[in-house]
Formats: sequence, structure tokens, C-alpha cells
Amino acid sequence: MTQATQATIESILQEKRLFAPPPEFSQQAYVGSFSEYQQLYDKAKANPEQFWGELAEQELHWFQKWNKVLDWQPPFAQWFVGGKINISYNCLDRHLTTWRKNKAALIWEGEPGDSRTLTYAQLHREVCQFANAMKQLGIKKGDRVGIYMPMIPEAAIAMLACARIGAPHSVVFGGFSAEALKDRLVDAQAKLVITADGGYRKDNIIPLKEQVDRALADNGAPTVENVLVVRRSQQQIHMEPGRDHWWHDLKQEVSADCPAEPMDSEDVLFILYTSGSTGKPKGVVHTTGGYNLYTHMTTKWIFDIKDTDVYWCTADIGWITGHSYIIYGPLSNGATSLMYEGVPRPSNPGCFWDIVEKYGVNIFYTAPTAIRTFIKMGEHLPKARDLSSLRLLGTVGEPINPEAWMWYYRVIGGERCPITDTWWQTETGGHMIASFPGAIPMKPGSATLPFPGVVADVVDLDGNPVKGEEGGYLVIKHPWPGMLRTVYNNPDRYRSTYWEHIPPKNEQYVYFSGDGARKDKDGYFWIMGRVDDVINVSGHRLGTMEIESALVSHPAVAEAAVVGKPDEVMGESIVAFVTLESKYSPSEGLINELRQHVSKEIGPIARPGEIRFTDALPKTRSGKIMRRLLRSIASGQEVAGDTSTLEDRSVLDKLRGGA
Ligand code: WT7
Repeated sequence: MTQATQATIESILQEKRLFAPPPEFSQQAYVGSFSEYQQLYDKAKANPEQFWGELAEQELHWFQKWNKVLDWQPPFAQWFVGGKINISYNCLDRHLTTWRKNKAALIWEGEPGDSRTLTYAQLHREVCQFANAMKQLGIKKGDRVGIYMPMIPEAAIAMLACARIGAPHSVVFGGFSAEALKDRLVDAQAKLVITADGGYRKDNIIPLKEQVDRALADNGAPTVENVLVVRRSQQQIHMEPGRDHWWHDLKQEVSADCPAEPMDSEDVLFILYTSGSTGKPKGVVHTTGGYNLYTHMTTKWIFDIKDTDVYWCTADIGWITGHSYIIYGPLSNGATSLMYEGVPRPSNPGCFWDIVEKYGVNIFYTAPTAIRTFIKMGEHLPKARDLSSLRLLGTVGEPINPEAWMWYYRVIGGERCPITDTWWQTETGGHMIASFPGAIPMKPGSATLPFPGVVADVVDLDGNPVKGEEGGYLVIKHPWPGMLRTVYNNPDRYRSTYWEHIPPKNEQYVYFSGDGARKDKDGYFWIMGRVDDVINVSGHRLGTMEIESALVSHPAVAEAAVVGKPDEVMGESIVAFVTLESKYSPSEGLINELRQHVSKEIGPIARPGEIRFTDALPKTRSGKIMRRLLRSIASGQEVAGDTSTLEDRSVLDKLRGGA
């Protein structure tokens, strides 16, 4: 454990507050008492296959039943082997034969204030047409499709249309640069890209189509044959003849009849790229049946979602949270999912609360970074709106500091709404450790207890459980239906990153989350953040390697090392230590240029908050940059711990003096 994580353990230990689930909430909840939760947990533990098999049968539609719930050939798992299923069918078609046919599936609010509501019947029709348009462009089952879209209903429509015809989608966050988009399209060997002319973000228009043009220029992503463009921002764009097609044109030509393709339970549903500690982003692969069941059950129990609820998850569909908890989980449950194109911004700081009031939002799910922003903007903003419709709050993305939790509970939840703190990852598909809001007493800052079927523990690097309440590595000891199946085209990386980091003992493989954690005397988990070289900025995980590579691609930069520094609002902010090529000298202008450069290469989210020039970087004798030391320097702490592996001690003194 680094110094930083040690400190986290101590400060968190002081948190002793306990909040029981409100009785009014428990009375109406799917799981309304601790003993009910315990029963579910015990049942799943005693016989996981029976537990998941029963739920799969009760909760989902299968074209053909499986012959085996779990086939575990460590570290490769298959769930519901032989089963035939389609998640778009479960999210749409099956609701059309019920009263939900004309219920709002998606309520959408655009940043400029426009809005649309799509009922299940309307959404189904759009998805079928979109799927047929893709077929017309030659997309078949198994072909990968890149989605680079603003937060508009067509983003959801495109994802569901891909799922419908069995074409794995790979959504790339609309805030990522052309360069980052290109890398992902190349790795996924995408055949089609779905985008929009532009999207609104913070009162600006993001030129999405222009970025796609850039990514595809000079045959940058050679597998891409067509681009399907949705009109959103109305600005002038270039349409490449033979390659680019307007969605509104194709829509005129296609039928609205497109039966859902019966998919094998283990057919790939999507690939989503996430940063790793070394090298290029990993294509996390999720498959169909297990992911459908896992997102369905976690949405149902953790959000206690009911037919009368308006549910709002503020994430972007470019992240796993948007996949699992704006689209697939809620729609599989037949819920009403609200989707918002914008983010709180200086021109409209109260916009979130306006939306809660306007639509009577009942369940609200956001990230600690957003909560800290709300705190900074002031409680007069939420206080000026009627938030009494809210009945449940959720948080995800990073550990929430207890004081932010208390503010969320008091100001947004009116001390009436339980808060579910949900720990999970792109790789886990859905919630892993989270409180059942009607059943589990809350402790501010703790994600509480594992979901039924999830066997979580805190261990040392040899895989031995730590003593008492000591900090260690958070691991999962049994496969679960929502787990990633592999890293796209890289099973070795899957094996080494997730399942061999802790050496398997007697064929007992444990999943390494990469997070530090501790378990208190009640068995509650307290997550301490990433233990590897990954920075969590505003709930987005960024690999230091990618940012460093971007910096080094600038002609002035000789070498770069990037670390995270604790930040009140963003969780962590990015600090870059840079050595320059000899012809260049440090200047304010160069700092700005480098920050811009990273923005262009990766996206604004990766722009370093701080750049420090230095003559040399602290390295081990084998040439490994000692980021631990840089982290201490960046956050202004004393450099403690072992520095014996440092090659040249004077580097450290200069960094401390000069920085
Ligand atoms: C990492 C996963 C899961 C969707 C959002 C991010 C951190 C996530 C929590 C939480 C403490 C959390 C972890 C995790 N994290 N939720 N409730 N409490 N930490 O997905 O980009 O895959 O990042 O986010 O460090 O490993 P992701």
C-alpha cells in the first residue's frame, strides 16, 4: 500500500455514522429487510447456479433454454450455455404485449431545452428501422459497429438496433478526440460508424462528424466502410459520397419490421474500451445472456425500480454506467429511463434540479464528482426547486467522501431518501457491492455489502485474506453473470490483468479489481481507490500511460510522467512532470500548448491540470519511473517510504526544491 492509501484508511476509520433504511421505503421495497437480503445472499452462496438459473427463467425471455447455467474453465466463464436470447427483445418486444406498450421508455431532454418522449412501442419501431438501415449498409451478425454519438435518443436506438441484429457495438465517448476514436475503431475492426453532425455540450457544439472524418482520413481505420449520420446540431458538415449516409434519408426507405435475431447467450453484445495501467486501452468484452440477467437484477433490486418510477441516471452512454443503467437494465425492467444531453454549466447551474422537478424524477443516480460540483454551486439551487418526488439516490464512480454523502442525503434527499453507493467497474458489467436501499443500513462512504452471488474479499498480494480491518486488494472469488469474458483479441491480457495478478492456488482463480479496500467488523466494504497507475478524474478512469504517450508525441517533450493528485471536485486531477528536448525551454506558453495537445490527442478530460518541468524524472535502476514519489511531490506531501531503488537521489531533491 502506498502512503496515500494508508492515509485514506485512517481518515475513513473515523466514520461511525449509521443510517437505517427509512421504514416507508422498506415497506414498499422488493427487498424490505436485512434478513431478506441475507436470505438471498445465502441462497446464492450455497448454490449460485440454481440461484441465477431460477432468476434467468423468471425474469427474462429466452428463445431457447440453456443446458448449463455456468461453464467455468478458469479464467474463462460461459453463462447459460446453449441458451438463445436477444437483449433488445427483452428491452422492447416483450413489453409490447403488456400495458407497457404505451408507457414512456425514454424521456429525453436536450441541452438547448428541447425534449422528446418515446414510448415502448415508438422506441421499438425506431430500433427496428435503424436495424434495417444498418442491414442495408451491409451489417450482419458479428460485424462490429462504432458508435460516436451525443446523448440523444438515437444513441440508445443505435445500441439497441445493434443488439437486435447481433452486431456488437463499441461506443466511444463523444468527448474523446479523433485520435482516440481511431485507435478504438482500429482495434475493434469496426465496419460501420454511427455518429451525428454535432452534439451540444456546455453551450458549445462538439463537431462529432468532423472528428469521424479526421479519424477515417488517410485510411486511418481501414475496416470502416460506411458512416451513418444522425442530424442533431444542423451545422454544415462534409458528406463523403458512397461512404456517408444520413439516417433521415435511409429511414424513408426501410421497413419497420425487423425480428430480433436469436443470439447465443455467449455471443458478444458489446466491446467497451477502458484504460489499463500499461499500454493501450483494453477492449472489455461483454456477452448477451449473463449481462442481460445481471443488469436486469441489479437494476431491479439496487434501484428498487417500479413501474410508476421516473428513473434518471446522469451518466453518458460512452461509459459502462450508460450502457447498463440508462439503457439495458432499466429497459429490460420495462422502466421509464430519463436521458439528458447536457451537464450542469455556468449558464444553467440549476438544470439538474429543473429536470427533477419537471419530470417528477423518483430515482436519481449520479457520481461523487457531480455531487461535489453541486456543493460548490450552492444549496440555494436545489432548495429553490421541488425535489419531493425523489425517493432514492445513488452514487457511482469513486469513493464518496462522507461529507459529500451527508450533503447529498440532507440537501437532495431531504433526509428521506436512502442512498445506494454502488461499487463496480466496466469489467463487472453491473453493481458488485452496493446497498439494497430497503434492507441494508447505510454508512456514509461505504458501498456496504456484496450483491447476492458476489463473493468479495480483501486479500494481500499472495491471495491471503488480510487480518481484521486491514487494507488490501479487493478481489472477487466466484464468477458472476455480468463479468467480462475476455479482452478483445487479447485473452492473454485478460488472464494476466484480472486473474493472475494474484497467483491462483490449486486452480482457485480470483478476480483482481485493481482497487484497494478494507472490510470493517460488520463486513462492510470501504473502497480506497485504484492501486495501479490509473487516474480517476471525475469518475472517468484514465491510464497514465496514454496521457504520457500523448505528451511525448509533442516535439518539445523528451519524457513525461503523469500522476493523480487528490482534488476536491474531480476526485483526482492530473499532474504531469515533463522533461524537455534541449532546444526547448520552459514557458507559460508551452504549458498551454502541451495541455491543448493532450486535449486534442485524447480529449479534454485528459488535459493535465498542472504541468511541471523538470531536468530529470526519478527512476529505478531498471529505468521504471517511480510514480509513487511523484505522487507525493504533486500533492505536496513529504516523500516517505523506500527510496533505495532510486537511481539518482539528486533528482528527488531538485524536484522538491524546484517544483
Ligand atoms: C473504478 C471503475 C462503474 C462505473 C463507473 C466507473 C471506482 C466505481 C465506486 C464506488 C468507490 C468506485 C473504482 C473502480 N469506483 N464506483 N461506488 N466507490 N470507487 O467505471 O471506469 O470501469 O471505473 O471506479 O476504482 O475500480 P470504470
